[in-house]
Amino acid sequence: MKEEFSVLPVHVGFIMDGNGRWAKSKGKSRNFGHRKGSEVIEEVLKTCFDAGVKTVTLCAFSTENWNRPKEEVDEILRILDKFIDKYRQKASKEDIRLCVFGDFSRLDENMKNRIEAAVESTKGGKSGMVNIALGYGSRQEITRAIQNIIKDGVTQITDDTLSDYLYTAGQPDVDLIVRTSGEQRLSNFLLYQSAYAELYFTDVLWPDFKREEVIKALRWFEGRHRRFGKV
Ligand code: FPP
Repeated sequence: MKEEFSVLPVHVGFIMDGNGRWAKSKGKSRNFGHRKGSEVIEEVLKTCFDAGVKTVTLCAFSTENWNRPKEEVDEILRILDKFIDKYRQKASKEDIRLCVFGDFSRLDENMKNRIEAAVESTKGGKSGMVNIALGYGSRQEITRAIQNIIKDGVTQITDDTLSDYLYTAGQPDVDLIVRTSGEQRLSNFLLYQSAYAELYFTDVLWPDFKREEVIKALRWFEGRHRRFGKV
């Protein structure tokens, strides 16, 4: 059944939290939790795009996540690599543009090449946009933007100038941030882009965050009264 909404976020960011706790509650390994967590992503994306959301950003691997045990880092990167390679075909078919951004300096060359190929092959996608934040941190993104502004010799700097130097240049601001697992913080995710975003927190752990949970978050957004600082 197609869900109708009177208002929809144009851009939704997901902080996919709780894979580890979900796995622990089932007596399984953290890596098992990440694998299960990656399996719900396509359903979440489909639900968003079917509803009419245009851009989705997934917090897949943050700069801070490099501090996890090597075995876990390797598995998350493996899952991501596989997901990107698989999703690019679906994205091409459905006219969706895939964008992967962050600091890739610690990724191996083969993975970098596969990411580049996936991004390149979907760059004409017009019906939706999926951003995967990988090796991403908002402070680093803003610092990098300022360094590049200086390097380019730009002296007239407005809010829009900074936006244009972020990884999300040209994309709409974030309207809704969803974070699962009961944590209520942004954890260095899309800080500049989320200046006016509504924040939705749910106790549901990421691997259980399926279609009906996405609809619940979008319904909650529908009920918000956004004033953007006005009365
Ligand atoms: C947070 O759960 C999750 C992550 C740090 C990684 C998220 C990665 C995936 C869902 C898989 C790969 C992503 C894509 C886009 C294919 P946690 O480990 O912090 O959970 P915990 O707080 O319960 O320990």
